[in-house]
Parts: sequence; structure tokens; C-alpha cells
Amino acid sequence: MRKHSVFLLAASVSIAALPLAADTKPAQPNDFIEAFAKLSGDHKGMRKNHAKGVCAVGDFTASQEGVDHFDADVFSGKTLPVVYRFSLPGGNPMIPDNARAPRGFAAQFSLPNGSKHNIATLNVPVFAAKDPDTFLGLLQASAPATDGKPDMAKLAAFKTAHPDTKPLEQWLGSHQPPYSYATAEYFGIHTFYIRGKNGEQTKVRFQLKPQDGIKGLTDAELADKNGDFLSQRLTERLQQGPVSFDWVVSFGQPEDSVNDPTQQWPDNRETLTVGTLRLTSSGDDSCTKLNFDPNVLSLGFTASDDPVLRMRSPAYAISFGKRLSGQ
Ligand code: HEM
Repeated sequence: MRKHSVFLLAASVSIAALPLAADTKPAQPNDFIEAFAKLSGDHKGMRKNHAKGVCAVGDFTASQEGVDHFDADVFSGKTLPVVYRFSLPGGNPMIPDNARAPRGFAAQFSLPNGSKHNIATLNVPVFAAKDPDTFLGLLQASAPATDGKPDMAKLAAFKTAHPDTKPLEQWLGSHQPPYSYATAEYFGIHTFYIRGKNGEQTKVRFQLKPQDGIKGLTDAELADKNGDFLSQRLTERLQQGPVSFDWVVSFGQPEDSVNDPTQQWPDNRETLTVGTLRLTSSGDDSCTKLNFDPNVLSLGFTASDDPVLRMRSPAYAISFGKRLSGQ
């Protein structure tokens, strides 16, 4: 009898709380666009996230192992033209290049049949939050209060309530930002499926390993006020010859997370180098009017149900539409 009345009390409390629950509707794509603007201001005609960046061009050729293993158009073995873009996150086009934040690396492959294949990666192995709601909450909790500064206590409380925000924070705190865009390793982060030659969908994640090796900024460079060097360093590096990255695919085990981009897979998973991305020049405007929507995939690839990956397409489309129309 006693138990019963406790249950009734709980039921009446949750009914009373319903109007509040209805206020917290799931994150919508445009909420992110608004949140980026609150954090970084309104910059017309620019990407609403990853506003600062540089284009590059080059090509991709699959390795013989990639050709043999997968039945995917991008791994045909033919050399494909590629447009690249390196970037820093946030809507601020003046963000310093030594900021302790992820770096972005996006690529659009053009296939002989006219189709496109996109990847848009970060130089961190995990994302900031496990799902769109938590990512939006994190952006909102980081926004400046009325005094123009973020409320650090509120932000800390949010992170404590959402432990999935910790892995990225810990990674960024324990790794120096890259010396150059060419000396960073980039991660696809989400899970994808690639059709194998045996017809089976293979569960994979991937990373792009720099043939120049990984090199971070020194503490002096981190403290330097001159935060504008990444584009210049890329130009100078390319004057010595192409910059290359190995595309390395990791094969997932059944227990490896599919839909949580804050959970890394164990690093002992079997891998295959499926090809080489090559950059030959940078600094043109080849990528300015491209949308590197990571769900634009060529034949043989399938996206997972990761809700963060799903949310990216509509958010990128809004940003793309706005910047093309000068907003
Ligand atoms: C819900 C989560 C996310 C949202 C709302 C979001 C939003 C955005 C938006 C609005 C843009 C600008 C698009 C444009 O104007 O073309 C962008 C760019 C970018 N994002 Fe995301 N993003 C999310 C997650 C991620 C993740 C998980 C990664 C990496 C795995 C990532 C990597 C990038 C990169 C590299 C760019 C720059 C692309 C370019 O150079 O054009 N984002 N993001």
C-alpha cells in the first residue's frame, strides 16, 4: 500500500513536470547555427562553423590492398581529383592558429561517373559530445553571459552532468595543437560501413596519417600572440613538393561503439592502408563554394545511424545556403 502511494506521488510529479519537459525539445539543425553565432558573432558570407580555413587541391589513389579488399567506387585504383580544406572550428574567422581546439581537414573526391565522395575529419579521435542534444547544450553553456564572458561555473556544472564531454577535453589538454596542417593526424570519428569484395558491409572507422609525421607547437609557440601561420606554413611546405596522408581504415569488432562518437575503439584493431591523399597546391578558392557534407558518400559506402553524423547534413546545408546568399 505504501509503495503504491509513492508510485502515485511520482506519477503526479512527472505529470506536473510535463510542460517543462516539452520546453526542452530535441536539438534542431538551426539551433546550432544560432549557437555558433552567439559564440562567435555574425560573419556574413562565411561558414557558420570552421569559418577560418584554407583550400588545397590534389588527388587520391587507392592502394592495391584497398582495391583488393573493398567494392567501393572511391577505391577503384584510378587516381581521383580532390579538393581539400583545412580549418579551425567556430564561427570566428580570426581565431588564432595556436588555439587549443581541434583542426579540421575535409576532402571532396570527384569520381569518373560524376558522383562525389566527401570526408570531413578532425585532428582529434573523439567528438565533443555523444549526441546532438548534449553538443548543443555544451555550446549554449559556453556562450558568453551578459558580462561578455562565459559563466565558468555553469560550464563546469554542465560538463560534470555530461561525462561524455570529458574525453575530448582530456585529449586536447594532453596534446599540443599541430605545428602545421601537414603534421597532424586526422580522424573520421564516426562509424561507416564499406562494402567488401565478399559483398559484406564492413564496420569501419578511419584516420588520415601524415607522411610528414606528427609535430606539435612548442610551448613558446602556444603562448605566442601571432596566431596566423597555418596557411603560410602549408604554402611553404608545398613549395618543397606534395604533402601526403595515408588513409587507414580500422575494422570494428561487434562490441565497438557504432553510434557514439565520444567512444574510441581500442587501438589494437586490425587496420588497412587503403590509399594516399596527396596535396599539390594550396591557397586558391576551389573549396570556398563547396559543402563537405559527410553524408555525401559514393557507391560502396554507407553511413551509420550515429545521431551526430545525421545532424551534420541539415546543419551544413543551412550554413551553406546562408553563406552562398551573403548571410
Ligand atoms: C552535431 C554536430 C555538428 C554540427 C552541428 C556541425 C556543424 C558544422 C557547420 C554548420 C559547419 C559549416 C558547414 C559549411 O558552411 O559548409 C561545419 C563544418 C565542419 N565540421 Fe562540423 N558539425 C558537427 C560535427 C562535426 C564532426 C563530428 C566533425 C568531424 C568528425 C566535424 C567536422 C567539420 C569540419 C572539418 C568542417 C569544415 C568543413 C569545411 O572545411 O568546409 N563536424 N560543421
